[in-house]
Formats: sequence, structure tokens, C-alpha cells
Amino acid sequence: MPRLEVFADEHMQHAYGIFLFTSKHPLVRKLKRIAQPSVHGHKTWSSSFLIMDYLQHFPLSEGERVLELGCGWGPASVFCASQQGAKVTGLDVDDSVFPYLDMMAATNDCRVKPLHASFDDLKTEQLSRYDCIIGADICFWESLTDDLFKLFRRAKKAGVKRIILADPGRSTYEALLQRCEKAWPQAFSHEHWYALEPKRFEGQLLVLNFAA
Ligand SMILES: C[S@@+](CC[C@H](N)C(=O)[O-])C[C@H]1O[C@@H](n2cnc3c(N)ncnc32)[C@H](O)[C@@H]1O
Repeated sequence: MPRLEVFADEHMQHAYGIFLFTSKHPLVRKLKRIAQPSVHGHKTWSSSFLIMDYLQHFPLSEGERVLELGCGWGPASVFCASQQGAKVTGLDVDDSVFPYLDMMAATNDCRVKPLHASFDDLKTEQLSRYDCIIGADICFWESLTDDLFKLFRRAKKAGVKRIILADPGRSTYEALLQRCEKAWPQAFSHEHWYALEPKRFEGQLLVLNFAA
């Protein structure tokens, strides 16, 4: 049974131990005047809660180096840093998301290092600095299926041990699933998953366990 958090502030939420802002929060409204994310990073997407729930069952280790792809406001990054003691970098192609990421990290008393880059910018050498890669709702265009598959291939070569991707089940994500299963049948797993905080959400998880 999760503890009931009662807020004076009706535009905040609590899920998996972290505080989140809704789009109507006064601070979000103020930030929108100076930073307007334009590649869908304008709110918290629910797939992030699937990653949080999954990591409660299969946690990171203390100090594990995590890279979140397409972090947006960074709810999953903040969870990994504040609840699981990971060293987290949040990557996004849209630098307008970083003020929101900073606000989320400060509110939850943790640090997430911002990295302004796109998926296809990341070289094998850079990827070798991470143990685990996560991503929530980042495979929504056909071109992203290919970009992410190639990134995963470089990540495997770089020695990344685990990749966890959450998605509501878009066709572009399913195309990525098929390519990953074919390329790495031993490392591949695919789960239907649900999260119960801040409310019930169902989706899917792709996990590549290269360390197994
Ligand atoms: C649907 S939002 C999800 C944000 C966040 N993961 C969440 O769950 O709240 C997708 C994010 O991916 C980022 N993105 C899209 N294409 C990208 C690319 N090629 N490289 C890096 N980030 C990208 C967008 O800027 C956006 O912040």
C-alpha cells in the first residue's frame, strides 16, 4: 500500500518516491515563458512510471552510471538518482527541456547531468561511460526506430550492460522490438507492464540484458 501524500499544492503529484509537476503548476507556467520544448518534451509522459516500477523489482546498483535517452523533464532520471543512488545523465536533442529537468532534480534533492545531443550523435566511446541506458516514450517516429537500433548496437559494443525502454506500444516501438529480438535473442526480453502511481498506466517494456 503506497503512503498517501497530501499536497497543499494541487498541481503536484507524487509517484514512486518522487515529486512531479503537472503542466498547470505555476512554476511550469512561468518556465514556459522562457523555454518551450518542441519535440514532445513538454510534460511528464506516463511510460516513465513503467521504468520506475520495473526498477523497483530489478533495481540499479548504488553508483551505477545511467544514461536516460530523450529525458524530457526527466522523471525517470530523477527516480534513478534520488531513489536508487545512480549517477545519472539526461540526454535530449531539445535543450528547452533542461530547465524543467533542473527544476525536477532540485525539487527531489538530487542531481542529473544534462547532455544536449541527439541519439545519432552518441559515439561508442561516449556510450562506454554508462552501465545502463533507459528511455521512456522515445520511439515515436519511423526514423527513431533506426536511430535507436543503431545506438543500441553501439552501446553493446561499448559494454553497456542493460537497456530498458518503456513505451505505450506504438508501431514504431514494435518495429524496434522485432529488430532487437532478431539481433540479440539471448539478451532480449519484452514485457507488458503496469504502473499504479500516480495512477494506473499500462504499457510495454523492452529489456536488453547484455550482461547475462
Ligand atoms: C515523448 S517525450 C518523452 C520525455 C520523457 N522521456 C518522459 O517520459 O517524460 C520524447 C523526448 O525525446 C526527445 N527526443 C526526440 N528525438 C530525439 C533524438 N533524436 N535525440 C534525443 N532526444 C530526442 C524529445 O525532445 C523529448 O524530450
